[in-house]
Amino acid sequence: MDIVVVGAGSLGSLIGGLLAQEHDVTLVGREPHVGSVSENGLSVVGAEEFRVQPTAQTTVPASTDLALVTVKAYDTAAVATDLADCTLDACLSLQNGMGNEERLAAELDCPVLAGTCSYGARLREPGTVAFTGRGEIVLGERNGGRSAVADDAGAAFRSAGIETTVATDMPTRLWEKLAVNAGINAVTALARVENGALADSQADAVAANAARETAAVAREQGIELSDERAVSLVERVVDDTAANHSSMYQDVSDGQQTEIGAINGYVADAATEPVPVNETLAGLVRTWERHRER
Ligand code: PAF
Repeated sequence: MDIVVVGAGSLGSLIGGLLAQEHDVTLVGREPHVGSVSENGLSVVGAEEFRVQPTAQTTVPASTDLALVTVKAYDTAAVATDLADCTLDACLSLQNGMGNEERLAAELDCPVLAGTCSYGARLREPGTVAFTGRGEIVLGERNGGRSAVADDAGAAFRSAGIETTVATDMPTRLWEKLAVNAGINAVTALARVENGALADSQADAVAANAARETAAVAREQGIELSDERAVSLVERVVDDTAANHSSMYQDVSDGQQTEIGAINGYVADAATEPVPVNETLAGLVRTWERHRER
C-alpha cells in the first residue's frame, strides 16, 4: 500500500518507520528531520532497532492510498487544507484529543477513520526515533460500525507487524483515550514526572478525578463510560508506560505549544456541569504556554 504519514514527529516517525518495512511510505514533516531521513534513512533505536528508507519531504504528495495524520491537534485544520488538494482513498487520524476527525472530514472527499495509538516514541535527533514501548493501534469508522476501508487499513498495519485492532465502537474508544490523556498528560507535564510517578503520589488523585470528570461528560453525550472504567484505564496506561514521558511532558520540556485545548480544554468546553479539575489543569497549562520561553 502507498501510505503518507503527515506529521513526522515522534509517533509519526515510529509508525511510519514500522510501516516502511512493508509498504511504500512517505513521511511529511519538518526540517532538519526530513532532510536527514531523505539523505541517510530513518533509524529506529530502543525496543527494536532497524533502519528504513522512506521518502521524506516537507509537503504532501499529489495522491496516496492512505493518509495517516499524526500531527498535533492544533495543526489538524492546516493539514486538512493541505490534504484537500491531494487524491486520497482514505485518511486515518492517529492523534490525541477530540475533534480531529471532524476537522479532516469537513475538507476531505474520502472516508476519514479514527484511531488511537499507545506505542511509545521519542524523536531523539534528526533521522533517529527512539522506540520506547510496544503498544496497540485501534482504528475504525469514526461514527462506529464496520467498513471495508477500516478492515483494509487494519490489514495494512498488521502486515507491517503493528499490533492492530479494528474496532466498531470508535466513539467510545475515543472518549476512553480522552479520559486517559486528561488524567495523565497535564499532570505529568506540570509535575515534570514520568507516567509511572502517577502510581504512587498525590498526583494519582488529580489524574483519577480528571478522568472521572471526563467520563461524566462522555455520559452526557450518550457514551457509556463509567467512572470506574475511566480510572482503571488511567491506571493501566500508567503501569504500561511507567518509564515514558507523556507527549505533553515532552512538549513542555521542548518549550512547545501543547494539546491542552483538545484534551482538558475540550472536556471543560464540552461539559454542561462544572469540571473543576479539568478547568484547573487547562488553566495552569495555558498559563505556562503564555509565558513560555520561545
Ligand atoms: O499522549 C501521550 O503521552 C499518550 O497518549 C499516553 C497514552 C498518555 C502515554 O504517555
